[in-house]
Amino acid sequence: MTTASFSASNTAAVAAAAAARTVLITGVSKGLGRALAVELSKRGHTVIGCSRAQEKLNSLQSELSSPDRHLLLNVDVRSDNSVKELARVVMEKKFVPDIIVNNAGTINKNNRIWEVPVEEFDTVIDTNVKGIANVLRHFIPLMLPKSRGIIVNMSSGWGRSGAALVAPYCASKWAVEGLSRAVAKEMPDGFAVVALSPGVINTEMLQSCFGNSASGYQTPDAWSLKAATMILNLTAADNGASLTV
Ligand SMILES: NC(=O)c1ccc[n+]([C@@H]2O[C@H](COP(=O)([O-])OP(=O)(O)OC[C@H]3O[C@@H](n4cnc5c(N)ncnc54)[C@H](OP(=O)(O)O)[C@@H]3O)[C@@H](O)[C@H]2O)c1
Repeated sequence: MTTASFSASNTAAVAAAAAARTVLITGVSKGLGRALAVELSKRGHTVIGCSRAQEKLNSLQSELSSPDRHLLLNVDVRSDNSVKELARVVMEKKFVPDIIVNNAGTINKNNRIWEVPVEEFDTVIDTNVKGIANVLRHFIPLMLPKSRGIIVNMSSGWGRSGAALVAPYCASKWAVEGLSRAVAKEMPDGFAVVALSPGVINTEMLQSCFGNSASGYQTPDAWSLKAATMILNLTAADNGASLTV
């Protein structure tokens, strides 16, 4: 190998390494989170993922490109202690994320608000809103020393409009929009916090609210191609934005 060719390939390797990011995604066992994790791993990025379904995490680990490079842990985002432990492990392994995608979410069964059980309303808010707050509480302090970072909070078209039978879910996603705009104002230069509406995708969540007509919508795999590119291209200039894939 000549000196010239060595330095050319070395420069390319350095550029590739600089472009490789560590991405924390919550809710990677199925749906959008899983598809995004697979796509980002194919593009050479490192994934830190979590969900509550250990078997699905195990199967995802082997589906990811370069399986040993990623960290998948059983975490319930509703539990502040569980998220705190995730942050501790991430810090210990020096896996501090460049990008966070707060994707874990749940929806109430279609029902008018007066028919939604108290516990179900609580679960939607605890997961979709307080789950994100738990992640922000424990991960923003880890990211601040890097002086740059991107936080994507998964919103919804129903975080910007209203729909019958899913009032708890709508309330939670409007909260995600407000939380994202407020936290954006708290971050120093170099960071971006955005609310992202993913569009309409055929996942178990969509099947819960749309029934059989969910099958007419795009697959998570097709969605992840667009979403991965969009998320990787976010910059500090996007801070405070409400975006749509
Ligand atoms: N699909 C759509 O058309 C659509 C539209 C608008 C917005 N969204 C949003 O996109 C995100 C992903 O939705 P999806 O359609 O992919 O839903 P999904 O198929 O139901 O997947 C939800 C994911 O969240 C995880 N999760 C739920 N509760 C959790 C908890 N307490 N702790 C940790 N992980 C938890 C689930 O994992 P475990 O159950 O294994 O823990 C699963 O991996 C959600 O925030 C949703 O509101 C989706």
